[in-house]
Amino acid sequence: MPRSTWNPCDGAVVLAPSLLAADFGNLAGAIKDLEGSGTERLHVDVMDGAFVPNFTFGTDTVRALKKLTDLPLELHLMIVEPERHLETFAKAGADAITVHYEVSPHLHRTLTEIRKLDCRAGAAINPSTPASCLDDVLEWIDLALVMTINPGWGGQKLIPRMLNKVEQVRGSIERQGLPTEVEVDGGVDATNARSCVDAGANVLVAGSAVFSHADGPAAGGRAVLEAAGAAEANR
Ligand code: DX5
Ligand code: ZN
Repeated sequence: MPRSTWNPCDGAVVLAPSLLAADFGNLAGAIKDLEGSGTERLHVDVMDGAFVPNFTFGTDTVRALKKLTDLPLELHLMIVEPERHLETFAKAGADAITVHYEVSPHLHRTLTEIRKLDCRAGAAINPSTPASCLDDVLEWIDLALVMTINPGWGGQKLIPRMLNKVEQVRGSIERQGLPTEVEVDGGVDATNARSCVDAGANVLVAGSAVFSHADGPAAGGRAVLEAAGAAEANR
């Protein structure tokens, strides 16, 4: 799908499986299983060992993923100085690029650059960052990502208080009359997906809940979407 035609800002509740929890030895198999199961995008966590302690994917992996699938790739950059690498990631095949508020002193400029590269632009905030930090850039983003854990690893428990922040971000978006998506990332599973949607999230990132499901990733994804009441929400 050419990324310029990917315009899913219709408020539908969707799942973004995080490949961080997939079997890295068989990414192709995991993606095949997810394709055609209601998954509309893949969440790719890029970590640099500086902004967060962990290392994960780089541009080569993004390039390889692009060859494996037509699903849009949404990159979550957990790296310092993200503005230095936007073009490289866009050329590697990113359809959306999300940068962190905490490492972007010129966030407005960075977001504008992302859109110029024909990618959807996202801004993420850590658990200790207030919702209001996004208020003045909402106009320039397609995706507001509220971290529901501290970034760095999958498999953590969602911090319930973060759902208040999701409500606040959704409230600001509505007050400004924008079509911005609200994404929750970290510890999202079938037990809390409904609360995330009720708080105002419409994009659910899920790693462990999808890839650790006994019946495979497609079944894990369906379980999260069903628990979220996606079918009713999207009617
Ligand atoms: C963590 C990442 C998340 C993570 C989600 O820093 O941003 O995307 O992989 O994984 P789970 O769903 O296992 O918390
Ligand atoms: Zn993520």
